[in-house]
Amino acid sequence: MQQESMAIGLYMQKRRERVEEALKNAIPADWRIPARLREAALYSLEAGGKRLRPILALAAAESVSGDEKDCERAMPFATAVEMVHTYSLIHDDLPAMDNDDYRRGRPTNHKVFGEAMAILAGDGLLTHAFYVASQAVALGVPADRTLAVVAELARFGGLPGMVGGQADDMQGEQGITSLEQLENIHLHKTADLIAFSLRAGGHAAEAGGRQLDALGLFGRNVGLAFQIQDDILDVTGDEAKLGKPLKSDERQGKVTYPYLIGLEESRKRVSSLTEEGIEVLSAAGLARPDLLVGIARSMMRRDH
Ligand code: IPE
Ligand code: IPE
Ligand code: MG
Ligand code: MG
Ligand code: MG
Repeated sequence: MQQESMAIGLYMQKRRERVEEALKNAIPADWRIPARLREAALYSLEAGGKRLRPILALAAAESVSGDEKDCERAMPFATAVEMVHTYSLIHDDLPAMDNDDYRRGRPTNHKVFGEAMAILAGDGLLTHAFYVASQAVALGVPADRTLAVVAELARFGGLPGMVGGQADDMQGEQGITSLEQLENIHLHKTADLIAFSLRAGGHAAEAGGRQLDALGLFGRNVGLAFQIQDDILDVTGDEAKLGKPLKSDERQGKVTYPYLIGLEESRKRVSSLTEEGIEVLSAAGLARPDLLVGIARSMMRRDH
């Protein structure tokens, strides 16, 4: 067990390094971009973070074929989702939203660059994600698959997906009473982009329909578990490890899983959702389901 978790930790570390490298080159050096805007976008993008979504995209590709080369083909989708995720964090921290001063271990984007530039840096990262995703064709991903991923990014990341979830989260502040409503918010604001990551990796490896469905459903389950864990860590975590402030939810009057069902029940939900997600993978005909199983279990144990 311990050996397994060390092996998956090492796997994730190696993939993370490749993602970091790709992110460094993702905004062409020879594009004329206002210097302060480039700086603001890179400030948040290069601040680190766990890079979980891109790692999932790469591992999903490899899980389909068992071929490590498919990781490289999935890299444009992996960097694209990290850009969308990073923009969502910049905007999430704005005074009009969660009003947080600290993110990924540094002052938030708007604290350093001002609100207007932070909004634009987010806009820029969001837009650039679609450029980056489109470049998958040059790495040999079929054009129809690339187009499918572009459409899915707009859907899972956009109005009915992450953005929709953030809107419901904002409007639901304090007013939510049912677990069903809260689950719906978490599914959209967080699980959708995670489900996207897995499906995008699958597309890069030319997965079949059944495999794509399984990857998406696995993502939905571990994505919901991930946001519940985020709610738990907002109460019980260590600020230095998290790199973001504790009790942000309480300050904003958010209804969260711990608020609604308590810490112990929330932890049980994280574990049961993870196991349900793992279960889905076993019947999907993947060459290397073990990679995603290992990542899911390590996500469940995370403290940041
Ligand atoms: C934080 O995401 C926001 C949520 C959707 C819970 P992460 O916990 O993945 O943040 P980083 O990317 O590691 O900074
Ligand atoms: C944010 O949820 C989800 C996003 C889409 C950014 P939170 O507001 O709980 O994320 P943190 O805790 O600030 O990272
Ligand atoms: Mg928020
Ligand atoms: Mg927040
Ligand atoms: Mg949170």
